[in-house]
Amino acid sequence: MTGRPDQSTAGARSGAQAGAIADAAAHLLAGGLVAFPTETVYGLGADATNGRAVAAIYEAKSRPAFNPLIAHVPSLDQAAALVDLPDALARLGEAVWPGPLTVVAPVRLPTPIAEIARAGLPTLAVRCPDHEVASSLLAAVGRPLVAPSANRSGHVSATTADHVRSDFEGVDHIRVLDGGPTVRGLESTIVGMGDGCVMILRPGALTVEDIADVTGARPIVSLREPGDTSAPNAPGQLESHYAPRAKLVLIDNEDTAPDNAARLTFAGRPRGNGPEVTLSASGDPVEAAANLFGALRRIDDLAPSVIAAPVLPESGLGVAINDRLRRAAAPRI
Ligand code: TXA
Ligand code: MG
Repeated sequence: MTGRPDQSTAGARSGAQAGAIADAAAHLLAGGLVAFPTETVYGLGADATNGRAVAAIYEAKSRPAFNPLIAHVPSLDQAAALVDLPDALARLGEAVWPGPLTVVAPVRLPTPIAEIARAGLPTLAVRCPDHEVASSLLAAVGRPLVAPSANRSGHVSATTADHVRSDFEGVDHIRVLDGGPTVRGLESTIVGMGDGCVMILRPGALTVEDIADVTGARPIVSLREPGDTSAPNAPGQLESHYAPRAKLVLIDNEDTAPDNAARLTFAGRPRGNGPEVTLSASGDPVEAAANLFGALRRIDDLAPSVIAAPVLPESGLGVAINDRLRRAAAPRI
């Protein structure tokens, strides 16, 4: 086995994919919802210029109306047409896009983006995703697409088409484009400007170090402390999020895990005394990020009474992974 499809199979597949994308684009232009892969997680897309279609996303996800959406565009130029990009954020977009970066900046008015997508804010979040299916879909639709992560609000994000189908089982009007598992496995990093500095509003697949390499300065990281009841900078940064059904506890030390816990592990040898799912046996944060949401869903499907999860070293992708795990462990709203 060579592992490479022969040309005729690949050709037939890409023909089928082109058909699926054309159908999906027509569904979107008619006001429908389409879940599609990006390099980070699957998004639940709607035509960003169609208020009714955008409202249908809030309804399908049971998403609070105060939580605005990201507009997905094919290029930096299109992002710059929608928002007033400060220099530092334009430089970041230039260096990273297409890629796992979302920029929040003042919206340019008048805007083609439906009012409801911004949840009343004077700013708009924009991002240019790095995935062939997402790019082809954006090109076929010819309009920006708003796309939150394709999970029920508050639940674990979706990194495969099956995750999407399971969260929206029975919701027949949502079409799903299957592009296989997503490569990064964590949502985009959201940045804005604060006090003249780049500020991270949500840690994600692009690290603090990656941003500092481009801008020449460490960004400010605006993380909410547990128990902080003030309004978050990114309204979606609510404390409880990414939550499995089972209670989740974070442990610094394997020996402190409750006896009956199912374990998520990182860089540890199997303990062999209960269900375990590893994020990365070799302790690789890139692999752990890619596996995180799938592992959370898999371990939750074993219906444990409690899941014990590790805290990773707080640098690089560890910052975003720990952020997701802390929110998964937070008291439910
Ligand atoms: O990787 C991603 O970003 C994925 C893929 C599908 O692109 N999308 C995603 O969307 O994670 P969502 O809706 O699950 O998370 C978007 C976050 C929310 O926390 C929301 O509050 C924040 O972006 N956001 C959107 N517009 C904003 C704005 N104008 N100001 C501050 N935060 C904003
Ligand atoms: Mg989300």
